[in-house]
Amino acid sequence: MSWREFWNRENSIYVNDRHRTLHDDRIARDIAGLVGAPDAAVLDFGCGEASGAALVAAKCGQLFLYDAAPNVRERLRLRFTRVPKITVLGADGIDETGDGSLDLVVVNSVLQYLERAEFEALLDQARAKLKPAGRFVVADVIPPDAKATDDILALLKFAFQGGFFFAALAGLVTTFFSDYRELRGTLGLTRYGEAEMISLFAARGFSAKRAATNIGHNQTRMMFVATRA
Ligand SMILES: C[S@@+](CC[C@H](N)C(=O)[O-])C[C@H]1O[C@@H](n2cnc3c(N)ncnc32)[C@H](O)[C@@H]1O
Repeated sequence: MSWREFWNRENSIYVNDRHRTLHDDRIARDIAGLVGAPDAAVLDFGCGEASGAALVAAKCGQLFLYDAAPNVRERLRLRFTRVPKITVLGADGIDETGDGSLDLVVVNSVLQYLERAEFEALLDQARAKLKPAGRFVVADVIPPDAKATDDILALLKFAFQGGFFFAALAGLVTTFFSDYRELRGTLGLTRYGEAEMISLFAARGFSAKRAATNIGHNQTRMMFVATRA
């Protein structure tokens, strides 16, 4: 099974509905905080279920949602079909947006599932689709020295604050026996160092900086904000 196939199936990444809701709300609030202007055109690439997308849409002019998993896209289409400011992109993804039309492209918690060559291709696509002053934000990037305990501690802290601590403990046991852990062992997760990210951006015509904070609850991972050089 590939990561793409994994994300197209039902999975137990979230320990319960409360976890999923709090996660999606947090991501939506963080993305909304990145929107620069009320008329901004924003793409959330690899958006997942994006149940908080209406909050982002309220802060911008147009929100494009794209996920590689066809089943996720179908659910997004059903959920957001009546929301005028939200467009769910089809299988061609970012290619369905106009050249030089986007103010902000956000890729959160996706890079670890892409091959390096796929990320390089995405950098070229994003550069073509962004307005001259547009920003490309890549977040939740896993550094090479990250440990599994970093993710566990971040989840437990989030769960404690969110009132689903015991469900999170049970969820950790489920994860231990899950497809996710098996795939993590066989396919692995792509990791990048800070300097490596900045030079990858530079090689594709971006000037990038690591941000002080990450999107979401895991602050051991990294966020980068890039503009065209
Ligand atoms: C960990 S989830 C993150 C979802 C969302 N961005 C968030 O932060 O909650 C990873 C998502 O990336 C999507 N994905 C994986 N590979 C992708 C690719 N090549 N292009 C677009 N989306 C991809 C998966 O289908 C999945 O929904």
